[in-house]
Amino acid sequence: MKKKLVATIMAATMGATLLAGCGSSSTASTTAATSAAAAATEAAATTEAAATTEAATDASSDTAAAGGDLITVGFAQVGHESDWRTASTNSVQSALSKENGFDLQFVDCDNDSAAQLEAVRNFIQQGVDYIVIDPIVSTGWDTVLGEAQDAGIPVIVIDRTIDDSDKYTAWVGSEFTNEGLASGAWLKAYAEAKGIDELNILEITGTTGSSAEIGRTKGFHQYVDDNGWNLIDSQTGDFTQDGGQSVMESYCKSYAGQFNVVICQNDNEAFGAEQAMEAAGVSFGVDKDVILISFDACSAGLTDVLAGKINADFQCNPLQGPDCADIIKKLEAGETVDQKKYMAEPWYVNEDIIPSISYMNNAGEDVTEDLVVVTQDIVDADY
Ligand code: AHR
Repeated sequence: MKKKLVATIMAATMGATLLAGCGSSSTASTTAATSAAAAATEAAATTEAAATTEAATDASSDTAAAGGDLITVGFAQVGHESDWRTASTNSVQSALSKENGFDLQFVDCDNDSAAQLEAVRNFIQQGVDYIVIDPIVSTGWDTVLGEAQDAGIPVIVIDRTIDDSDKYTAWVGSEFTNEGLASGAWLKAYAEAKGIDELNILEITGTTGSSAEIGRTKGFHQYVDDNGWNLIDSQTGDFTQDGGQSVMESYCKSYAGQFNVVICQNDNEAFGAEQAMEAAGVSFGVDKDVILISFDACSAGLTDVLAGKINADFQCNPLQGPDCADIIKKLEAGETVDQKKYMAEPWYVNEDIIPSISYMNNAGEDVTEDLVVVTQDIVDADY
């Protein structure tokens, strides 16, 4: 595709961005009282196989129509810190494969923001057709995105957000603040249902400065503040299992016998926290001494929910590969694209004691969302 045409489309989409961006909210957050069955079905329907097949079919036919040239795409991925990240990488690599008409250049930035900026600049120098970025941190992007724009290269942002620039063509990912708000609403309702009147909380956050960490923290802390819960400590585990384990080991030493909730901002941190609590003789999970909350809901996370080790797991959907293929396909066809798309994300629990949670979401809407009780079928259909 000619860069000039792309630049025109970019300008048009940026206009749409500013109009459509701010008030948008996720399917999960705008759909009040989504049924558990529908949520679970929707989650299963976004499985990699189904989505990739669709992207493959669409992209292949477009490529054939365009004469068979591969579309070059540079993907600056965050790193390889979690099960979620592996699923994200697999999703993009499957959807943007050679068979589907793409020449994908993949860079694992190993959670290093400077390396990620360098990777994007290298893609610009190479003159790739498109750049896909999952931004490690949410700021520091305006200059390099301006360089991509000047070069006429559309940038597609996935998963985490860029918060200090709008010089990108499209974003698809999660409403992280809603994930945090939902976790707080669930904890409030769960504590009431179980007759727990004092919450002493330890938090293990994700990578500092990432929009996933910023949003989940903001949403959950709103409930901490509004309800006068005792947040004993909050430290980063950097979204890794080792990080979660080492923070929890130190928590177990410093706060032995003083806490009854541990909230980890992703499943891998939760796995590490589990190991540390087991080693320290702390019981956790359903009807144990400590309530364990997590985010991501990868299949290993949901296995722990099913086993009662994790009480609630708030999904973050990593399957953005087919959306990338679809956006590129539309841009190649000269169509405009939505600048923001939120993934559908169910909330998973072990016990069937609270049917739904109600809260005001990040868009200021009062929503009621059903909780999905995990079954083996849901685990098997998960990423
Ligand atoms: O940006 C998404 C977050 O990053 C996921 O919650 C986490 O697992 C990943 O590392």
